[in-house]
Amino acid sequence: MRTISAIGIFAIAVAPAFAQAPTTAQARDMAATCANCHGTNGVSSGGTDSLAGVPKAETARKMREYKAGNRPSTVMQQLAKGFTDEQIDAMAAWFAAQPAK
Ligand code: HEC
Repeated sequence: MRTISAIGIFAIAVAPAFAQAPTTAQARDMAATCANCHGTNGVSSGGTDSLAGVPKAETARKMREYKAGNRPSTVMQQLAKGFTDEQIDAMAAWFAAQPAK
């Protein structure tokens, strides 16, 4: 009985997160807002770090550090604050899948 109700609570807690997870197309559109500074498809032409091909976990961790103010930043803290954790994960996954030139 306890197990069944625990599963029920788990399903309720997890369902909204899945419902809000951005699609790949939405992730690509969000990632396009990074292109001015990090290059087309995350391949930087210098000045900033490339995001293309960087493991998802690394980009997601850095974005969360910016968001929390735990990573030195000029612009990224402000930018990172504008994204939910689900959006950060989706963008990080999208960049990880781009070829690093
Ligand atoms: C206005 C220019 C600008 C835009 C737009 C921008 N960035 Fe940045 N990004 C920077 C700068 C500059 C840094 C270096 C840290 C700082 O000064 O904030 C940086 C650093 C980073 C880093 C850390 C790189 C490393 O390896 O240390 C990540 C990850 C990152 N940006 C992701 C993103 C993502 C994702 C987006 C789009 C949502 C984005 N950036 C949009 C300018 C920008």
